[in-house]
Amino acid sequence: MVIKSRERVQKFGEVFTPRWMVKRMLALPEIQILLQDLHTKFIDPCAGEGAFLTEILREKLNFNPYQPLEVLRSIYGVEIQLDNLAYAAHCHTDLEDSRIWQILNQNIIHGDALKLFQPPPKVEEMNLFEGFYMTDTTLTKFFAEMCGLTDEQVKNAVIITNPPYQEDRKGDNKNYSAPVYHKFVEAFHKTSDRVMILHPARCLFNAGATPKDFNQKLLNDEHVTVPIYEPDGSKVFPNAGVDIKGGVAVTYRDANKNFGKIGTFIPLPELQSIHKKVVVDNKNFQPLSKIMHGQMTYKLSDKAYADFPDLPKRLPRRTDTALRTNAFEIMPDIFLENKPNDGHEYFKIEGLIQNKRTSRFVRQDYMIDIPELHHYKVFIPAANGSGSLNEKLSTPLVGLPLVGSTQTFISVGDFHSEAEAVACMKFIKTKFARALLGILKVTQHNPPEKWKFVPLQDFSADSDIDWSRSIDRIDLLLYQKYALTYDEIKFIETHVKPME
Ligand SMILES: C[S@@+](CC[C@H](N)C(=O)[O-])C[C@H]1O[C@@H](n2cnc3c(N)ncnc32)[C@H](O)[C@@H]1O
Repeated sequence: MVIKSRERVQKFGEVFTPRWMVKRMLALPEIQILLQDLHTKFIDPCAGEGAFLTEILREKLNFNPYQPLEVLRSIYGVEIQLDNLAYAAHCHTDLEDSRIWQILNQNIIHGDALKLFQPPPKVEEMNLFEGFYMTDTTLTKFFAEMCGLTDEQVKNAVIITNPPYQEDRKGDNKNYSAPVYHKFVEAFHKTSDRVMILHPARCLFNAGATPKDFNQKLLNDEHVTVPIYEPDGSKVFPNAGVDIKGGVAVTYRDANKNFGKIGTFIPLPELQSIHKKVVVDNKNFQPLSKIMHGQMTYKLSDKAYADFPDLPKRLPRRTDTALRTNAFEIMPDIFLENKPNDGHEYFKIEGLIQNKRTSRFVRQDYMIDIPELHHYKVFIPAANGSGSLNEKLSTPLVGLPLVGSTQTFISVGDFHSEAEAVACMKFIKTKFARALLGILKVTQHNPPEKWKFVPLQDFSADSDIDWSRSIDRIDLLLYQKYALTYDEIKFIETHVKPME
């Protein structure tokens, strides 16, 4: 038995799909029809130990019990690790026939489905120039060449898999691993007409680090549908060792079917209908994000750079003129604990020191002067929780005039009265507003774009909402204003935690 190192498991994404999930995917009607057809070919191009291949074989044999060799001939796999490959092939050997190994050798192959080459046996010690490269090729040609399929057969095959999700950790940031699953999704979508993939769901919320172009392409592709969504990734992969923020989803693309584009992915039907009512069908809808300010709002002025010539050393990137989360720690001579009585005017800045909320004073001429600094606003944390619908926002606070913040916060509004800022803060704390925030906020990140389905309100005394009421009363007024049904209200009341 091969003992797999943690590094290897991480590097190649060797987290295998549990059998119940494989069965759930194969049970989808579109796949069941294809499994019944003896000649439809199935390919898992990242086969691992054969979780999909084994189950496909079992189900196909159930439908076609008298043609076991034909069934076996219709199942293909590619795997980069030889020992996994041995498992994947071994899973099939219940069938008693001498021709089996011949078929397995041809159909379950050792290869790299992304770089399109056949690696040497010991992948971990791989020298990039070793192995059988297929230059100037496509995945179609790769399958054709390696598995003996025609281009047409590859196009008509069903690709079904769970590819690796992340690249190996690189660079200085030990907490960050770049996603890689989108590269597999893109390659497979180009190759076969029918592709079913289990992958992180973040891209469907246009969140996470996959390229935005990829996310948009997936969301706007009318051939793509999402038959399965599991918000808690640990239910599917309890031993993966990472929290798959935003959950996992199964996407299915059929080039010959039009499912209508996904557009905005909202997995819960109650949230879908609330979104339709409050946002899509509401001609007066304006987003709260229209009056929000992101993390790059409050910035150091040229005067600060002139008076502290060593600043470029402390702030190596040009974008660092915006106050990063560690601003107080790296600039204690600019952000002062107490306001000096030295004839200069000061702004107060809200931020963190060692993860604790605190404030510091900075000379007004050391900051770029913007209107937001002179008005009332509400500060909310720029990162909060993990994106689950039932979590609270860590305490928002009203920012008075002459108060700004580091990138720890984003802010809402440019209000001329404290009463409006308080009203806005109450609204942000309502279950109603946070339910709509939950459509897009599926990770810890909380930038203004995530608030684009939360409806902007009139926070003045002339508003249609009486902001002097308690937050739970305001929720009732909002339910009434947007004519939510009993089921929609019940959904919000049971899924979103109250905030004081
Ligand atoms: C997440 S696992 C899933 C395996 C299997 N499909 C399953 O669902 O259990 C991904 C597999 O892809 C393999 N792999 C990683 N990169 C690959 C590549 N470029 N080409 C082919 N296989 C690859 C890994 O060794 C691993 O076994």
